[in-house]
Amino acid sequence: MKIDLSFNAVQFDDLQLREKNIIVLDVLRASTTITIALKNGAREIIPVASIESAVKISGSLFGEVTLRGGERNGKIIEGFNLGNSPLEYNETAVKGKSIIYCTTNGSVAMAKSRYARTLAIGSFINLTATTNFIRDEKKDFLFICAGRANTIGNFSLEDAVCAGMMIQNLSKTESIDVELSDSAKAAYAIFKSFGRSILKMLKNSEHGKYLIEQGFAEDLKICAQIDSVPVLPILIGTVIKLKKEETSIEHA
Ligand code: MLT
Repeated sequence: MKIDLSFNAVQFDDLQLREKNIIVLDVLRASTTITIALKNGAREIIPVASIESAVKISGSLFGEVTLRGGERNGKIIEGFNLGNSPLEYNETAVKGKSIIYCTTNGSVAMAKSRYARTLAIGSFINLTATTNFIRDEKKDFLFICAGRANTIGNFSLEDAVCAGMMIQNLSKTESIDVELSDSAKAAYAIFKSFGRSILKMLKNSEHGKYLIEQGFAEDLKICAQIDSVPVLPILIGTVIKLKKEETSIEHA
């Protein structure tokens, strides 16, 4: 199994990602928020690349069964129902709802991957669920770190550390033979350097510091809890839903 990695999604267009098996990582906060929203009963997540698309898609659906969620500069977008703090996506707010989702980096990477053969959403809170999925798929995978727009190199430390931790777990799995690209090896090395304390790493990351300044320190604690939400959001058709746990009969 070949594992490749990109430190941001900027270079890709939708067609380049067709037929690929992709894991999108946006630890702060899109991947974490989506995983928690679906665990709390949201019906589906529809990631979009722009506010205009969100408004266009939600159009007449807006309100009853469809919510708009997302952020700009970390804060709720005007006219949206929800911001991007995982704390807002509780059962009362999202159960049974479809969420049109628009963020600066994460939803853009997901929208670009909508024609992928396989797309799953990974973070620290569902780390093992994500690596188990890759292991069971036994196919080549591309990790796309959402990165950080409008910064030099669009690099985000937290996404690289998370990818590196997943790569370590996959490399340790006896049942599979893993071949790493150079960028995947680099993510592994970054994990080895910065992965000892995940919360400390998030607090010292550029986006982590920014979110703390914006009053979202609590979100970092949630995003740092490894395997606290062991479910896997995957692309089904054109929307993101929870991967159904296969029963023992189906697995046989
Ligand atoms: C993003 O997609 O850029 C992040 O999730 C933004 C954020 O939550 O601050």
